[in-house]
This record gives sequence, structure tokens and C-alpha cells, in this order.
Amino acid sequence: MQQPGPSQSASYPPPPVDATPNEQLEYDRGLWNHFLLDATWRNTRFNAQPNRLLLEAVEDCRAGKALDVNMGEGRNALYLAQQGWQVTGVDIADQALVYAQQQAQRLGVCLTTIEHDANTYNWGTNQWDLIVLCYADEGTHVAQVQAALRPGGLLVFENFHVEVNQTRNNQSGKTIGFATNELQHLYAAANFQIIRYEEPLSVADFSKETCRLVKLVAQKI
Ligand SMILES: C[S@@+](CC[C@H](N)C(=O)[O-])C[C@H]1O[C@@H](n2cnc3c(N)ncnc32)[C@H](O)[C@@H]1O
Repeated sequence: MQQPGPSQSASYPPPPVDATPNEQLEYDRGLWNHFLLDATWRNTRFNAQPNRLLLEAVEDCRAGKALDVNMGEGRNALYLAQQGWQVTGVDIADQALVYAQQQAQRLGVCLTTIEHDANTYNWGTNQWDLIVLCYADEGTHVAQVQAALRPGGLLVFENFHVEVNQTRNNQSGKTIGFATNELQHLYAAANFQIIRYEEPLSVADFSKETCRLVKLVAQKI
């Protein structure tokens, strides 16, 4: 799982050594509950505004049903809900989900939040008009997205390029990010039309560092 980054995790204990999958999940839950709601971190290391690629991708879309996988504290889901989308957000960070619901109430919009491990959550079949995978995790999720989107449905995907491992002091020791053209090749091979694919040097929503990103908008044919 993508961790917040060295300078942010300095104020959070390191993960347990040789953690079991359950211990790792609990660690990740605590870590994201902490960082996503921490005022200093939010102000300095996190773009709390909705993701730019998502804004641009849905600009001319008719609102429908959206699934925000690893939703976080709801910045993207709440934006979509305000645009009339019927949004379901899945995440393990229970306190971040509570925060998202409070914001939904404040904004007068409806948001469905599900506390669940996205790896075991049933994404459904031909069910969504939009799936958002924004700094979600290290998976490409091609098979799940292919099954879960309706024909014509959109995927919006943004994350780090694998190049970030050379420039970022990644304390977890795990390689993160996606290789050059990996996502567009995989999704094209799975019968998606690639609407947009870019690997810009840009400011990452998570860390606010300038690094190479991968940005994909793809439509299920
Ligand atoms: C980098 S944040 C991205 C949040 C959100 N997508 C955004 O762009 O604002 C990663 C999120 O993944 C969630 N997460 C980590 N492991 C997860 C898992 N196994 N299942 C569901 N959510 C998970 C974390 O709780 C955190 O909210």
C-alpha cells in the first residue's frame, strides 16, 4: 500500500516487522485515519481538493453511479456527489469515512460509505458508470474494473510512476508505482478505449512533491 511518505510518517510509528496480512491492514487503517485527518498533514502534504484529472474526466459526463475505491476522507466522492453522482466509497479507514459522512451532511449530499478491505470487497458486475482509483494502492485492478463497469463506463486512475522510487526515500522498502505505459497497455488489452494517458512530472496529491505520475482515463467498450 502506498504510504504517505518519509517526512509525514516521521510522526507515526513504523509498521510492525514481519506483519501478518491482518496486522498490516490494522496498521494501514490506523495510519490513514491519522494522516487523512491530521490538520498539519492536510495543510502541507495533501491536496484536499478533488483530483484534477477526475474533474476534467467527468466534466462532460452525465452523472450516474460511481465507485470510489480506497476513497479516503472523501474529497473526490464528495465532489462527485455534489455533481449529482450516486457515489459509493470503500475504504478501511473508519474515522476517515466518518469524516466523509460529516462533510456529506454539511454539504447536503448523499454518500454511501463502506468500511471494507477493497481486496475482498465485491465490486459487482456491469454496475458502475465510473470507477475512481486515485492513489488507491499498487494494483492495476484491470479484471475487477472490467467486470464492474457498465459498457461505456469510465475509469479514472492516478498514482505514482515507478520512477518515484529513485527519488523518494521510501521507508517501507516496498517498490511502489506503475511502469511506463503499463496501465494503458493492460487496459487497452482488456478492451478499453484509452481516452487519456499521461506520465507527467507533476505535483502529487499525496505528498505535494513534484514527481512522475501516471494518469489514465479509459472507457469500457
Ligand atoms: C493515498 S490514500 C488515497 C485516498 C483517496 N483515494 C484520495 O485520492 O483522496 C489511500 C487510501 O487507501 C486506503 N486503504 C489502504 N488499504 C486499503 C484496503 N486494503 N482496502 C480499502 N482501503 C484501503 C487508506 O485507508 C487510504 O484512505
